[in-house]
Amino acid sequence: MIGRCALWYPLPPLMMSHPKIIQGGMGIGISCWRLARAVSRLGQLGVVSGAALDVLLARRLQDGDLGGHVRHALERFPSRQMADRVWETYFVPGGKELHQPYKAVPMHSKKGARELVELCIVANFVEVFLAREGHDGPVGINYLEKVQLPHLPSLYGAMLGGVGYVLMGAGIPHKIPEVLDRFTRHEPAAYPLHVVGARESDDTMLRFDPHEYLDHDRSPLRRPFFIPIIASNTLATTLLKKSKGRVDGFIIEGPTAGGHNAPPRGKLRLNESGEPVYGERDHVDLDKIRELGLPFWVAGGWASPEKLREVLSLGGAGIQVGTAFALCEESGLEEEYKRRLVEKSMAGTCQVFTDPIASPAGFPFKVARLERTLSERDVYQERTRACDLGYLREAYRRADGTVGYRCPAEPIESYVLKGGSREDTDGRKCLCNALLANVGQAQIRKGGVRERPLITCGDALAEIKQFLPSGRSSYTARDVVERLLADESVPCTLTSSSFYPPNRDPLCLFGDPAPVLMDSEAPVVLCRPMLTDPVQSF
Ligand SMILES: Cc1cc2nc3c(=O)[nH]c(=O)nc-3n(C[C@H](O)[C@H](O)[C@H](O)COP(=O)(O)O)c2cc1C
Repeated sequence: MIGRCALWYPLPPLMMSHPKIIQGGMGIGISCWRLARAVSRLGQLGVVSGAALDVLLARRLQDGDLGGHVRHALERFPSRQMADRVWETYFVPGGKELHQPYKAVPMHSKKGARELVELCIVANFVEVFLAREGHDGPVGINYLEKVQLPHLPSLYGAMLGGVGYVLMGAGIPHKIPEVLDRFTRHEPAAYPLHVVGARESDDTMLRFDPHEYLDHDRSPLRRPFFIPIIASNTLATTLLKKSKGRVDGFIIEGPTAGGHNAPPRGKLRLNESGEPVYGERDHVDLDKIRELGLPFWVAGGWASPEKLREVLSLGGAGIQVGTAFALCEESGLEEEYKRRLVEKSMAGTCQVFTDPIASPAGFPFKVARLERTLSERDVYQERTRACDLGYLREAYRRADGTVGYRCPAEPIESYVLKGGSREDTDGRKCLCNALLANVGQAQIRKGGVRERPLITCGDALAEIKQFLPSGRSSYTARDVVERLLADESVPCTLTSSSFYPPNRDPLCLFGDPAPVLMDSEAPVVLCRPMLTDPVQSF
């Protein structure tokens, strides 16, 4: 089915040091390859979200692969047979009928159905490959540590695609650096699955051996930078102490950021609106972070030229920005929701609520209030609970010692039967289905009922107007980057070899994708060449 087999290119050494702006990974599918590619072409770090890429790809294929991008990437995947299997399982010529449900994809489990593991490797490859096309800047991928089951095949697939950075939050990802090191050599890797109630003698390891899936050239893969996303000084030091491989920097994310937020330290207190109250103990001491000697970026309400200048003056490498990019033209969010949210922001009527219970992940989750979405009580109450994607399920030990999976947003009786508490189901929202609806991939239920969206944004939603060119009602990734760098005399650094220090730049298996420009826009370089930068080179 797939026409061409993989093309292999040697990897030229990349010439960039760390960027000042990281476009945050935003799941599911908001940080799509188009957005990441646009940002990387501007000389900053474009990041694709690694959340649920397998389902996202399966649904793109069922939508008929508009533009032929997936097919184009699959033609470069190193195993033609595997790429063909994915294509043949999910591709629907011309796209499925609108009222037809999407075909189910198996849910992840410890054992891992082969079909799903293959889909996962391929999907991570495709997203990174497409984001890297047409420029030679690095591209990152973002994962939530909490979503553990797909980690190993996802990371391997992303590394096959030549990912330059792995960013990970929502957990303590100290085992990831070692996994990255092993995958550069195509060695098997293991990752500990958190299983509630597990006994010491239980085998809770997830395992993945690349050789069981791909029989190809074993040239070493590029080792991506690993940048955990953290919200406390203690976590930064713990990660450095406990990790067996290299940690390359930190993103320090505060509680105003979009998406999931770290819970406040200590006993949970809510304000009169029902939002978590953060206090002194949640403050991250940036001086202490700087003393760790690694580059760091700050996230959560830092999207302005003044704030960028501030963090650089504090010795930081830059900022990670989410909300501003989530609403720009290239993001994966459905056009209608972008437009309505930008309008509300302009009118000064937008509201963002930090919901302490909505997310089954157990972390506070920022929700943008928007009519006809699950932010509204009546829309939430109308939904019949269903759990068919399962990314946020927790693993638990069954009485017979096997591993079961449950999610507090699944049908209540089934959750309780699995030993979950009824109380815990209260107010929980199925993020898996809602977030797919946000990007135009809503599942269709009985009677043609469509899953409803639930949109997350940071408090910075109120400040979107700074990016809108006058007379326009929408803006691009370039508008965001140019605005943020407006005050910078040195927009970003370009060094001779600091992106991949010597002795660490092996030939990638098939290196950079062919530099095909898929639209008329020429690559833009905002960087002014510099030989060294005391802050950012290392
Ligand atoms: C729509 C949206 C989805 C997000 N999803 C994720 C995610 O999946 N993983 C993650 O680590 N951060 C996620 N974030 C956080 C961003 O990556 C970024 O750190 C944050 O938005 C920065 O703060 P800002 O929104 O004030 O710019 C998300 C943010 C938004 C707005």
